[in-house]
Amino acid sequence: MVLNWISVYIHSLFIFLPCSSSLSLPGPTSYFLIGNMMELKNDHLPIHLTNLAQRYGSIYRLKCGTTTMVVLNTSEVIREALVKKWSDFAGRPISYTGNIVSGGGCNISLGDYTEKWRAQRRLVHSSLQRCCKKSLHDVIERQALHLLKVLMGYKGHAVDLSEDFTVAASNVITTLAFGIEYDKSSSELQELHRCLNEIVALWGSSWISALDSFPLLRKLPNPVFARLLKEVVRRDKIITRLLNNYKSQDEKNQDVITGSLLQGLDNQNTGDKLLTDIHVHMATVDLLIGGTETSAAWLDWMVAFLLHRPEVQERVYEELCTVLEGRYPKYSDRHRLPVLCSLISEVLRLRPVAPLAVPHRAIRDSSIAGYFIPKNTVIIPNLFGAHHDPEVWPDPYSFKPERFLKEGGGSRGSSTRDLIPFGGGARLCLGESVAKMELFLFSAYLLRDFQLLLPESETSLPDLRGVASVVLKIKSYKVVARPRPVTNP
Ligand code: HEM
Repeated sequence: MVLNWISVYIHSLFIFLPCSSSLSLPGPTSYFLIGNMMELKNDHLPIHLTNLAQRYGSIYRLKCGTTTMVVLNTSEVIREALVKKWSDFAGRPISYTGNIVSGGGCNISLGDYTEKWRAQRRLVHSSLQRCCKKSLHDVIERQALHLLKVLMGYKGHAVDLSEDFTVAASNVITTLAFGIEYDKSSSELQELHRCLNEIVALWGSSWISALDSFPLLRKLPNPVFARLLKEVVRRDKIITRLLNNYKSQDEKNQDVITGSLLQGLDNQNTGDKLLTDIHVHMATVDLLIGGTETSAAWLDWMVAFLLHRPEVQERVYEELCTVLEGRYPKYSDRHRLPVLCSLISEVLRLRPVAPLAVPHRAIRDSSIAGYFIPKNTVIIPNLFGAHHDPEVWPDPYSFKPERFLKEGGGSRGSSTRDLIPFGGGARLCLGESVAKMELFLFSAYLLRDFQLLLPESETSLPDLRGVASVVLKIKSYKVVARPRPVTNP
């Protein structure tokens, strides 16, 4: 998703954002009209941008047509822009097709930094917090237990677990949002996933991004654009159906996010009703998209890394057995499980599932690392690059969870300043607390009850390079989940 957004923005910049060619930043030579667009046509953009940082440093510019983008490659410069100067860089670039998929900019992830956006983010944030406080732990525990049951059902056969991880993560969000939990075979769930994935994939295609670059093309027939519009209509029908189902219930569960959001709309002062139903609708889309593929992709990465380093898996298992003495973990146990926490941090470091975050836009003239950054410049926080910075992470490309362990035990925890998989500042990932609890509980339950093994039929370990599409995902692989000896909870 993130990479597709980038591609869309990159194209849209020709039209929508003023040029800022006077930047004195270093960067590759750019060519007339196309700028550095060829540089950006790379099958793994995060790796490519990280390699460019070796040549041009922690902050460099890339030109797209007449517009300059600034790529930030270390945690220091990323924090300067996103956290220290958050109010200068909290905007999002605006594009024709972005507006179409975001209900006219009415969602959180693509909406620009306006008064309405701030009100929407505040409302969603407080609804999410309220609902999480009441039920998040129970909801994740329930899905984790269900996941264990599903794995048990595979009876040691080699399987690709990615769909099961997607259903588990998606069920956490749909339970929080609507109080609905789906079965893997549910047609509504499949329709929803297919439609959301399709929108993100189509939106990233050059057939669509060309419409941002060349408005005249909007007048010509474009079957890919027609499909995108159809999928957006389909998505909106599903979300409307889910919201209407909730509204029509006699006994509404006020604890779900939808209830809280609708209540928030009602509670607005009559004089300045900033938010309407569309904001609730689009925030729901945000939560479903943001909350499903990210955590699921992370679980896929975690299992793959453990297949590469089985001894890490054994250390985590031993820790779980010793500390928990047979029971299932609670989130509050995390401080007593440093080995597991170090595994979580290291996987987030090596494969931040949103490797380039979401592009930001300078909403006023500012500066980063002493360089002048004019209003409207697009900022790309290269989280992948920051997590592979050799100045901060010795041997940055190696999987070494132990780097997060203090000497003599104990975890440095994911609060380590330079680990920034969720971004920061005004645009910090809205689902950070949901995601952190999911990663912890899902992996703890999984590794307590199963030993994950490479199937005997497989001759090679999973490919760890990844596919840079919606999120940074791993190529499909199979694993055997062998039940651990029964313990007594
Ligand atoms: C935005 C990472 C899970 C909802 C983001 C951003 C990152 C990110 C890097 C962009 C921040 C920026 O623009 O600077 C992750 C990771 C996850 C995860 C690594 C899991 C491992 C979730 C979950 C949800 C969620 C579970 C929903 C419950 C969102 C939303 C935004 C966002 C709504 C847009 C925020 C805004 O523009 O203000 N996420 N995310 N994410 N994420 Fe997540």
